[in-house]
Amino acid sequence: MLRSLKRILERIGYQTTLAESVAEAEPHLADPRLDVVLVDLLLGSASGLELLEQIKSVRPEIEVIVMTGHGSIESAVGCIQRGAFDYLEKPFDDPHRIQTTVRKAIERRSLVRRNRQLEDELRARSSIPEFVGKSPAMRILASKIHSLRHNESHVLIQGESGTGKELVAYAIHSSSPRASGDFVPVDCGALPETIIESELFGHEKGAFTGAIGAPGLFRIANRGTLFLDEIGEIPPNVQAKLLRALQHKEVRPLGATSPVPIDIRVISATHRDLAAMVDEGGFRADLFYRLNVVRIVIPPLRERRGDIPLLAHHFLHKHTDENSRVDGIDEQALELLIASDWPGNVRELENTIESAMALAPGPRLGISDLALNRPASRSTSVFVPTALPISLDAYERCALERALADCVGDVTAAARVLGIGRSTFYRKLGKHGIVVGGRAQPDRSPAASTSDRYGTTRGG
Ligand SMILES: Nc1ncnc2c1ncn2[C@@H]1O[C@H](COP(=O)(O)OP(=O)(O)OP(=O)(O)O)[C@@H](O)[C@H]1O
Ligand SMILES: [Mg+2]
Repeated sequence: MLRSLKRILERIGYQTTLAESVAEAEPHLADPRLDVVLVDLLLGSASGLELLEQIKSVRPEIEVIVMTGHGSIESAVGCIQRGAFDYLEKPFDDPHRIQTTVRKAIERRSLVRRNRQLEDELRARSSIPEFVGKSPAMRILASKIHSLRHNESHVLIQGESGTGKELVAYAIHSSSPRASGDFVPVDCGALPETIIESELFGHEKGAFTGAIGAPGLFRIANRGTLFLDEIGEIPPNVQAKLLRALQHKEVRPLGATSPVPIDIRVISATHRDLAAMVDEGGFRADLFYRLNVVRIVIPPLRERRGDIPLLAHHFLHKHTDENSRVDGIDEQALELLIASDWPGNVRELENTIESAMALAPGPRLGISDLALNRPASRSTSVFVPTALPISLDAYERCALERALADCVGDVTAAARVLGIGRSTFYRKLGKHGIVVGGRAQPDRSPAASTSDRYGTTRGG
């Protein structure tokens, strides 16, 4: 019977292994290629039912088909209740039925497998914070993160403050093979030199006065990812220890007699030009090469202004709650956001939107809701013609508002900043419907000094 079953199944392309007893079957149960098991209910001393239960408890994904003699249908039904896929009645006079049953079992097996895969993917994806950006630079970045998903090399991320370095580091971690391990961020810039070493590598109890013992972040992040933020700030002696830890894949906690093996991926980040620091002797070259296996550069927001509308709406959505009065942003405000330079990058944009939402009467954020408190020199940026799709009108309005804000509502000073006369300034205010805060303007501007300060703002 075994041999005829084997022939029937091999005829439609399945590989089969035969076993004449539970003992003979057992070694094959661990075979990863095993998809389906056909079990006779009467298997000598052990019952087929026990084998079914054994398979379902050890490898629940394997489908089991029971074979039963005429008249023992009840036990076959019992088997199905215990997880069998189906049963076949002996004698087998219809090879076709056997083939169909096995094929269906295999189909279900791959369906279950596919489902599990999708669930895993979904779980991985939902744990990654949303990474917004459709500019060419951000698309390249996203595909780089994606292509790193099977990779565990050390990564160095370079970008100005607030460009999203930590977000990218976390995205790399959570789509990597280490996703089930911990992501442990350390701000190297914030830790004093004396503490950073024990913080990273740990210390034994009594290693120094008052030492109570600590595992160190390397051990805490074991099998996960250690995110070393502001790596450019770590002092030379810690650089040496870090290099040793990465080279030998072990750390020696302060006061410990023997090293502790560690399995770690390091993602480091810096706003500095680390290569230049190496040239100037401020950073060890050997450590730099170890950290810089994969290099990611996140461009500042002003170099990917096309992402600003998307990000603005993303943050609007992110900071909306049941008390929010704001549900949108008007065109001119958006144009102002696009035209701004964002020295604090995405973080600054997010803060700007969040605080505007807290104070704005709603329902849409307008230019006057945006507190873009910039040093005077930055106001030049508004006037620099760029290839942006912004109307001249919007620029003009921006310019008026900005000049007024910079001069604290002093029309004479503001007009001077823009290099136009007071009456022209008033006419333009009227045209844009801008109301200047109700008080009379002084005859004389307070402002030889003001115009000195703003004297160069009329760029472009
Ligand atoms: N592309 C993006 N999509 C959505 N949110 C972003 C994006 N980039 C940055 N952010 C958000 O901006 C804020 C700053 O990002 P993050 O902390 O990752 O920047 P950083 O480069 O580490 O900054 P810093 O150098 O100041 O530490 C976070 O709230 C982050 O979620
Ligand atoms: Mg950061």
